[in-house]
Amino acid sequence: MPDLDLIVKEIADEMRARPDRGEVASYIPELAGVDPRAFGLVVIDGAGRVAAGGDADTPFSIQSISKVFTLTLALGMVGDRLWRKVGREPSGSPFNSIVQLEREQGIPRNPFINAGAIAVTDVILSGHQPREALGEILRFLQFLAQDSGITIDETVAASEKRTGFRNAALANYMRSFGVIENPVDYTLGVYFHHCAIAMTCRQLATAGLFLAYSGRNPLSGHSVISAERARRINAIMLTCGHYDGSGDFAYRVGLPGKSGVGGGILAVAPGKASICVWSPGLDAAGNSHLGRIALEMLVKRTGWSIF
Ligand code: DON
Repeated sequence: MPDLDLIVKEIADEMRARPDRGEVASYIPELAGVDPRAFGLVVIDGAGRVAAGGDADTPFSIQSISKVFTLTLALGMVGDRLWRKVGREPSGSPFNSIVQLEREQGIPRNPFINAGAIAVTDVILSGHQPREALGEILRFLQFLAQDSGITIDETVAASEKRTGFRNAALANYMRSFGVIENPVDYTLGVYFHHCAIAMTCRQLATAGLFLAYSGRNPLSGHSVISAERARRINAIMLTCGHYDGSGDFAYRVGLPGKSGVGGGILAVAPGKASICVWSPGLDAAGNSHLGRIALEMLVKRTGWSIF
């Protein structure tokens, strides 16, 4: 049994001191002001052991990590019909790329690139008011993290709405193919807001437990999804969770993971633990630079790579 407390503490100490921190995202103006020196790491296992280091309880913008949960919700609502609107192949392209959409009839490659996540949000929105759809997503996260205090950072949502021209282009383009069915403003509004949910490493690691334990949170006893669906979501996280950096993440870390431009990464060690790391500085693909390095160290010391 690895000494998780010691490992997490040593990694957090080392990461706090490192000078190479990557670049904080600035294309969403509100995120540019986040302190690049922040670092948090939380590991939670199925027996309820929690190892926390650094800024484990500081809320940050979960951004694209929300896409794991919207995918889970949408699959719960429409099942495999979801795959008519979005694929499940790695894109090999940046998270906000538009080029494949024209060649592939407006069907995004996977649910984690922006276009795919917007299509998934549109499915959750169907037949609802934006406020209801957003409430559904927020309540799902509160339920998974067992914390009703989780909120949306309205300033971040407004900041992205003001500057999200590329996402607007993706959504309008998909609307022209009928892949987006609701008013584009509604779908984008829900998308920007679920990306702007603020959570801590501890809350996210708790929320991810069901993916590490075959669809069931072993601490609360709640069955969230079937084991088969959990396995499939993990497979998409492994192959697509880091965009055009997914191959490198699988090579170096070897765990299903989902990054966000807020600098968070949710990683799943099946049967072992749910892990969340946060360091706001990003690499060239828009994934947390030190977050990935910290996970690489964790996996080396625990032997938790799935390979
Ligand atoms: O749509 C966007 O650009 C952001 N709300 C989310 C992108 C993101 O987190 C990419 N991840 N690394």
